[in-house]
Amino acid sequence: MTETIICPLSIIPQNMNTINPWESTTIEDYQKLFDEFGISPFNKLLSDIKHPHRYMRRGIIFGHRSYDSIVDAMNSGKPFGAMSGFMPSGRVHLGHKMVMDEIIWHQQQGGTVVMAVADMESHSVRGISWKDCLRIGVEEYILSLIALGFEPDGGRIYFQSTSPEVRDLAFELGIKANFSELSAIYGFNGETNIAHMVSATVQSADILHSQLKQFGGPRPVVIPVGADQDPHIRLTRGLADKMNLFHVFQKDGTVKIYSKSAHKEAFKTLRKRLSVDFNENDIKMFEGHIDVNGSLEHVRIAVKDVELLVGGYAFMPPASTYHKFMTGLQGGKMSSSIPDSIIALTEDPKGAARKIMRAKTGGRVTLEEQKQHGGLPDECTVFELMLYHLIEDDNDVLEIKQECINGELMCGQCKKKAAELMETFLIEHQEKRELAELKLSEFGIDYKF
Ligand code: TRP
Ligand code: SF4
Repeated sequence: MTETIICPLSIIPQNMNTINPWESTTIEDYQKLFDEFGISPFNKLLSDIKHPHRYMRRGIIFGHRSYDSIVDAMNSGKPFGAMSGFMPSGRVHLGHKMVMDEIIWHQQQGGTVVMAVADMESHSVRGISWKDCLRIGVEEYILSLIALGFEPDGGRIYFQSTSPEVRDLAFELGIKANFSELSAIYGFNGETNIAHMVSATVQSADILHSQLKQFGGPRPVVIPVGADQDPHIRLTRGLADKMNLFHVFQKDGTVKIYSKSAHKEAFKTLRKRLSVDFNENDIKMFEGHIDVNGSLEHVRIAVKDVELLVGGYAFMPPASTYHKFMTGLQGGKMSSSIPDSIIALTEDPKGAARKIMRAKTGGRVTLEEQKQHGGLPDECTVFELMLYHLIEDDNDVLEIKQECINGELMCGQCKKKAAELMETFLIEHQEKRELAELKLSEFGIDYKF
């Protein structure tokens, strides 16, 4: 483990003077996400995380919502989780690997982790048959997930269509989600098929079901996503809140518990439970709300206990982290429809190496210029591959970056190194995928190749 470099993304004013070895990306772009959408910068949390993932150290994960609840749980040994889902539609590639790495990292930190195969989404939105959803789900995504280190101990994989809990919860969530809200997020219109709309609440159910009693109850659960996925997260955080019986917040030093839907009996039970932890004269009961003079955290615990007792959900808003996207190997977007822009985890390792040799670099037009002015690693897709995937040691990456900037490293040699690393990675990964076939049954997946 190399030493952690704090502050990979110097966006926070007080950190502006720290030299940031990783990042040159336009600070303004991310600042906008922070200011307008309420995403918090990740680097503030970094020093509290014991062994941050390289995506965290390197500012690739740049933002979050409520991730402090996960950090707190990790550091105090309290239960927490992580979940994500994949739509089985195409080939599993490096973009998917990022999310898989993040989920697996959280499992290694002690979290319970869940992976959904979004077959209902794929079937309703992309028109992919159930049979193909199963095949692609297993043969592309699940095998790579297991090969990357996802373990059955504390790790669960399911297909949306075979989870009654998810489907039932999706229906319940549908009561709280209306057409205008969903169409604003997903662009639904009069032509959109109903099953497509349903798959939106199924996705929220994927996220929230791991907090159901039978899956471990309410606890912080993080959803690692790309920055563009924030609308789903906001929707689901809103739904979590709407599903809850009680709403707790602090105002002017008083903790307030409100409920529109709780019955008198539920309020009475809550009052009793509160008097276990708080003095009688610190609890004031009103019509439809209770005021408590005391710690917000303790009130929340009491409210959660009572909510579960009287049959509510007590969902915590799901936490999220946001990572940057990798650039396509030719520059521009990474897209499955442009094979040369992506590297699939299942593709021929030699072919992948050749793609890297053809990739867009931040090199100069001539060797002379490169020696004189140095390259531009921040505009180089090959550097990005090394930064995101191929090199674990921070110092090694920094060294390449510095040599590139100094004009000491030439692109041909650099690409060759990246190509070799990629080839080795893919060969090993594909061997592990074969072993993963034998592990499927440990995840309760019955599949014939
Ligand atoms: N909609 C996601 C996609 O298009 C897949 C997905 C389904 C998902 N359920 C999820 C992602 C829950 C995160 C969390 O790939
Ligand atoms: Fe990219 Fe390497 Fe060329 Fe620098 S030397 S621009 S990092 S390929």
